Amino acid sequence: MDDAQYLEVKNQVNKVLSINLDYYKEEQMKRRLGSWLTRSGYGDWDKYFEFIRTSEMDLLKFRNFLTINVTEFFRDKERWGQLEEKILPKLINDLPNKNSLGDGLRIWSAGCSTGAEPYTLGILLNELAPSKKHYILGTDLDKGALAKARDGGPYHIDEIKNVSEERRKKYFEIEKDKAIFKTSLLKSIYFKEQNLITDIFENNFDLIVCRNVVIYFKNEAKNQIYKKFFDALRASGILFIGGTEIIPRPNEFGFNSFGVSCYIKEKNL
Ligand SMILES: C[S@@+](CC[C@H](N)C(=O)[O-])C[C@H]1O[C@@H](n2cnc3c(N)ncnc32)[C@H](O)[C@@H]1O
Repeated sequence: MDDAQYLEVKNQVNKVLSINLDYYKEEQMKRRLGSWLTRSGYGDWDKYFEFIRTSEMDLLKFRNFLTINVTEFFRDKERWGQLEEKILPKLINDLPNKNSLGDGLRIWSAGCSTGAEPYTLGILLNELAPSKKHYILGTDLDKGALAKARDGGPYHIDEIKNVSEERRKKYFEIEKDKAIFKTSLLKSIYFKEQNLITDIFENNFDLIVCRNVVIYFKNEAKNQIYKKFFDALRASGILFIGGTEIIPRPNEFGFNSFGVSCYIKEKNL
């Protein structure tokens, strides 16, 4: 795809879906768009955009493809082990000293897709500190994904492959290859539509989980988001990112490394 064509596609995507592709890595996006158009069977972008304007369902598919909302419960199991055994117990332990808005933890799953990540956090908190009143926020720019999150699915059975038998019984209703999360069990989870690049964040979080979201963004966009995460955390709050992601110089943002894929806010900048 040449530059002029990419510019035109970006304009159309912005118009039709309100997604600004300027923040996404260009070469990667061009390649993905090229193979998407080939698979769609439409020879050119004008015809493709004409088509998706008439089909709500295909518009949704295109949006899902662009924003890549693949997720699952306990995604990268080992990393969640670290959260369960080290990070969450530390944060819970800090609770009595904290000048908090409630008596439990404030946690944000940024780019939560269809909700597997905030529900995974909910399961862990329900087991580690069930008597506290926690606040778990899940945000995403994808309305369709958020609607599914609010409904607790249905998730494909593969999306709960890392969930133990005991937890499956307790937290899910399973029928054939579909699993529905019992949302009534965890009342402290809230979902909100939000664009990480352009919107204002809530603050005073103990933990921000942002995994497999900024990997598609250009460095400037990533850095801008890490700065905003720093501001949204309380002092000594923790940022938990994806298993393949890394913040090369965390100190520049006021973070220190705190185990694999974890960073702690050490000082107010
Ligand atoms: C691959 S999913 C990650 C889901 C979950 N965090 C996980 O690791 O399982 C990426 C999600 O980021 C969301 N996303 C992409 N760009 C975003 C933006 N600018 N603001 C908010 N969410 C965004 C997508 O809609 C998608 O649901």
